[in-house]
Amino acid sequence: MKVLDAEFVQGFIRLCGDGWEQGWHERNGGNLSYRIKDEEVESVKENFVPKDWTPIGTEVPALASEYFLVTGSGKYFRNVPLDPEANIAIIELDDKGENFRIVWGLNKGGRPTSELPSHLMNLEVKKKLDPKYRVVYHCHCTNIIALTFVLPLTDEVFTRELWEMATECPVVFPQGVGVVPWMVPGGRDIAVATSKLMEKYDLAIWAHHGMFAAGEDFDLTFGLMHTAEKSAEILVKVLSMTDKKRQTIQPDEFRHLAKDFNVDLPERFLYEK
Ligand code: 13P
Ligand code: ZN
Repeated sequence: MKVLDAEFVQGFIRLCGDGWEQGWHERNGGNLSYRIKDEEVESVKENFVPKDWTPIGTEVPALASEYFLVTGSGKYFRNVPLDPEANIAIIELDDKGENFRIVWGLNKGGRPTSELPSHLMNLEVKKKLDPKYRVVYHCHCTNIIALTFVLPLTDEVFTRELWEMATECPVVFPQGVGVVPWMVPGGRDIAVATSKLMEKYDLAIWAHHGMFAAGEDFDLTFGLMHTAEKSAEILVKVLSMTDKKRQTIQPDEFRHLAKDFNVDLPERFLYEK
């Protein structure tokens, strides 16, 4: 099968177009990775032409010898649906999980996203916790970023505020959301900090930069990002009108919701204000 005909490649391309349409991917902002299933690799392997091995910049032994579909560094999400083969790539990891090589794509040159260490470390953490997790998505979602200039940069405050602004939020991300303080992007340090949060959460905010979401498939991961960013948009609108909410969802009401929707909401997010 041609790579572009594979369903997982089509799903990847669709997410890139959807993210662009949301306004989350100015210029080359954002990146996406997908841990490819064995049977999916088999179905497209005939097209692979391996290039040279390159260090990842970190080590992900639990992902050794696996294949990933990733966006290219400096490539624009808006161009992915127009010319996928020039803007995305399939990479293979070596048997130690320390080096990668491009086996398909980026046909006009380039390398995988500069956030490859974060993507792979997040995917490794998630694989160990639940092998069904395959997608990691990073975008520059405007309202979440805006809130990192006005809210305290704690998991507790961001989780509680996002939960309050849309009733579906505690059901969609009951574990909450983590926050990484501002750090230099693109390296191992921010990858370590983010992947530590991914042990607890499916969402990690990068202060003054954007957000990472992890999930089992493209729909769930994009939907998670969209839900959290929509809630942030509502909070930005409310804060633009007033510095205090006249009424909101109360801790006991969250506890009631948790019972009826059968989700576990950690008490540390249900503090009295
Ligand atoms: P890349 O173009 O290297 O993926 O970088 C974009 C980005 O959002 C960095 O955080
Ligand atoms: Zn970014």
